[in-house]
Amino acid sequence: MKSIVILISGRGSNMEAIVRAAIPGARIAAVISNRPNAGGLAFAAAQGIATAVVDHTAYADRAAFDAALAEAIDSHAPDLVVLAGFMRVLTADFVRHYEGRLINIHPSLLPSFTGLHTHKRALEAGVRVHGTTVHFVTAELDCGPIIIQAVVPVMTGDTEESLTARVLAQEHRIFPQAVRWIVEDRVCIDGNIARVSGAGEPGVMISPPPESV
Ligand code: GAR
Repeated sequence: MKSIVILISGRGSNMEAIVRAAIPGARIAAVISNRPNAGGLAFAAAQGIATAVVDHTAYADRAAFDAALAEAIDSHAPDLVVLAGFMRVLTADFVRHYEGRLINIHPSLLPSFTGLHTHKRALEAGVRVHGTTVHFVTAELDCGPIIIQAVVPVMTGDTEESLTARVLAQEHRIFPQAVRWIVEDRVCIDGNIARVSGAGEPGVMISPPPESV
């Protein structure tokens, strides 16, 4: 049984998708938030999952916060740490501590649109396809080995809200899939490439036609 700790900062819909996937061989040991009012904490608690808050505003600097966060995480001895809408930049020391067992979902087709406001920036750039990426976390922000991506079309008349909703629906598909592959020991890191073993699963999902999203 693999033990998983999920970090959130807000709504937690991606965490919820992973919990609801009930991945065989995986146990969600805890959900930890850096914000006391994160909506996702209530869902996790209702599922009987341990929850904790490590409030970043209570710490003098990033290093102190990251040390407290690591202590909370490590009390559950996780095999995998999942950043599901966790909106804090992590120190290199923290990332190194979890090397190879720390993954993140980012709302763009990396390496395009690292950082914030990805959907707005995609619309402003006039790209025709957009999407989301699950990747291993490395010290460089939003740059680690890619495990899976989902592609959505950008439609004429899209707003930031409509594009966000289309991408989010795909996030809820690919994040549980990435976790499942890791739990099944099918993902290995080869330099900056994450390779998934098993035929017929290239690690890309194309969204269904937009009218059904
Ligand atoms: C998701 O869209 C995720 O990709 C994004 O925050 C949202 C969280 O939603 N993450 C980042 O922007 C990380 N830089 P959720 O709380 O409902 O899962």
